[in-house]
Amino acid sequence: MRTITKLAAGAALIAMTAGAAKAAEQVEVLHWWTSGGEAAALNVLKENLQKQGVTWKDMPVAGGAGSAAMTALRARVTAGDPPTAVQLLGFDLRDWAEMGVAANLDDLAKKEGWDKVIPAALQNFSKYDGHWIAAPVNIHSTNWLWINKAALDKAGGKVPTNIDEFIALLDAFKAQGITALAHGGVPWQDGTLWEAVVLSTGGPDFYKKAVLDLDPAALSGDQMKKVFDTMSKLRTYFDQNFSGREWNLSTAMVIEGKAGAQEMGDWSKGEWLRANKKPGTDFVCIRFPGTQGSVLFNADQFMMFDVGGDAEKAQLKMASAVEDPAFQIAFNTVKGSVPARTDVSNEKFDDCGKKGMADLAEASSKGTLMGSLAHGYAQPAAIKEAMLDVITQHLNGQLTTEQALKRLPEAVKAAK
Ligand code: BGC
Repeated sequence: MRTITKLAAGAALIAMTAGAAKAAEQVEVLHWWTSGGEAAALNVLKENLQKQGVTWKDMPVAGGAGSAAMTALRARVTAGDPPTAVQLLGFDLRDWAEMGVAANLDDLAKKEGWDKVIPAALQNFSKYDGHWIAAPVNIHSTNWLWINKAALDKAGGKVPTNIDEFIALLDAFKAQGITALAHGGVPWQDGTLWEAVVLSTGGPDFYKKAVLDLDPAALSGDQMKKVFDTMSKLRTYFDQNFSGREWNLSTAMVIEGKAGAQEMGDWSKGEWLRANKKPGTDFVCIRFPGTQGSVLFNADQFMMFDVGGDAEKAQLKMASAVEDPAFQIAFNTVKGSVPARTDVSNEKFDDCGKKGMADLAEASSKGTLMGSLAHGYAQPAAIKEAMLDVITQHLNGQLTTEQALKRLPEAVKAAK
């Protein structure tokens, strides 16, 4: 009897230890990578960790640019139960770190020499108060145009290099009987289009003045009037069902030849690749007309939360896996982004990826690498939301251009 009890106790102990070990080797990851291309890229990370014995507990929250994910995260942190790692962008990293909920990755970063290989523009956000809190996964950029190659050829084959040529191309697509510009009407997508138009209209200096420095004169002057006028014009090339559509469904329209082009970040390429389409053959990637030479960047980063104790081991394995150069290649060639490290070869990347890497290096050296507003790298959330609100209302015809020019600096001032 005693032996049986002992055995049972022993078995229970073994089960508990195994349970603890299992828990220690698990990461719970909150992210918004739910489209086909995004999920395929995320699988690269899941499989990498699984090979190392780390179980992946998935917490996907659909919704481009992470707007819904942030609400879910707030609930978890408020309940005192943060996930192990969370996909975050720019100023949001700072906001969470300020609350004192971040893990400290300094030892790992030091051991692996992150300081030397991760660009300063990212480190600004991957570190808080001088300490590493996040592992940057990639660098995306938003000022891209994705064009259906067959539709382009039919329209004469010349890629547009400024807004006027772009409008002429959209007219040609319209004449082909397809939707000229595939766009999904949600604030972050409206903002993604708007920031490209700002850059194209006034160049990098104007983008800096208006979007980074929030200069009231730049936010309400003649150049900005041109921006809003262009937005109104572009609106005339959308289809009737654009309102509320997710970005990947708009990409699908261009892939299927139902639309001519889409302005979108390079996560869009992930969808093309997923559909077995080739750059140069099936689609053409160019910088948004008039923006070659500048890059509006956003980088996905996994912020590690202070989960303490056992879970920390798996968390560090994940952070280390993310910064592994081989992983950076495997992941980013699927995702459409470029590596978050400067020491990774471009050899395995397709032509759009190679262009992305070359453009990034050029912009970085020229001082024309600037944070994306719509994706959290230009302004903190409150200011970003306030600006997106005006941009969306104007695009939807709820504000005239005159009203938008008045409201934009006011909204910024109120949000500061
Ligand atoms: C993220 C991308 C993501 C896109 C659409 C962006 O903010 O940086 O990784 O694919 O949103 O969801």
